[in-house]
Amino acid sequence: MALVTTKEMFKKAYEGHYAIGAFNINNMEIIQAVVNGAKAQKSPVILQVSSGAMKYAGATYLRKMVEAAIEDTGIDIALHLDHGASLDACKEAINAGFTSVMFDGSHYDYEENVRLTKEVVEYAHSKGVVVEAELGQLAGIEDDVNVEHSTYTEPKQAIDFVQRTGCDSLAIAIGTSHGAFKFTGEAKLEFGILEEIQNALPGFPIVLHGASAVDPRYIAMCNEYGGQISGAKGVPADMLRKASSMAVCKINMDTDIRLAMTANVRKVFGDNPKEFDPRKYLGAARTSIQALVEDKIKDVLGSTNSL
Ligand code: G3H
Ligand code: 13P
Ligand code: ZN
Repeated sequence: MALVTTKEMFKKAYEGHYAIGAFNINNMEIIQAVVNGAKAQKSPVILQVSSGAMKYAGATYLRKMVEAAIEDTGIDIALHLDHGASLDACKEAINAGFTSVMFDGSHYDYEENVRLTKEVVEYAHSKGVVVEAELGQLAGIEDDVNVEHSTYTEPKQAIDFVQRTGCDSLAIAIGTSHGAFKFTGEAKLEFGILEEIQNALPGFPIVLHGASAVDPRYIAMCNEYGGQISGAKGVPADMLRKASSMAVCKINMDTDIRLAMTANVRKVFGDNPKEFDPRKYLGAARTSIQALVEDKIKDVLGSTNSL
């Protein structure tokens, strides 16, 4: 068992009409929860690392912990750089042993995004690494860049972009956004855009960012134990199921992990203010994240028994 690219995973997911969960990892507990959840469901999984996570934990620690997870569970894992901001950031991840990188040039103008993405594709492919690119902008916060309003992906441009850059997958903007506050009114995704791209590029894997469901139960639990989160809203499960059954092969989730973790840590302290053993509150968080990952695999991604 080994670190693998997403190539084979995406091919099987596309043909099987399911999607692979890409979960953001920041520490040992999250890694263990995600891989143990994937193993229990016999599901492929992608572990992704943002530049913030890279700064927090360090690329070497993260890669070594992921190697430990592979040894411990015996499953193949893809290790992916989330929202790489430059060729240098992608090179750093590739040199650290990542098998997949995202180059996020979505905030550049179109021609510049094409040019920079092509550079990353050339370098990554020469090292056997696959590249996810992005076209269109999600509302909300994309790493350090605050994008106030989303710009939906233009299907004709997406087709041209994929053909000219040679990227291996493409993140598109159809109405999702990062973080816990995705919709002020009714949740709505532009499935017509996805359909048009899927029809023009059959077999090509599409990626959906900002896909956390923001379960009201975790918000309530956070608030019951001293949190102050209001107005949070995520992507409904039926929309994600629909995307998984279409050309979407990778679904990114981070906020849901953060909420599950925070809710459970708060509960441990709320129920027992005398507690100060980190294993008690981090252990509770780990258990809840594994349950969350298994629920996602069963109810949203449809990737159970696909290993
Ligand atoms: O897309 C953003 C992910 O949720 C990662 O967030 O940059 O705070 O680690 P982060
Ligand atoms: P969420 O904020 O919806 O979890 O999205 C995470 C993401 O897209 C990471 O790239
Ligand atoms: Zn993202």
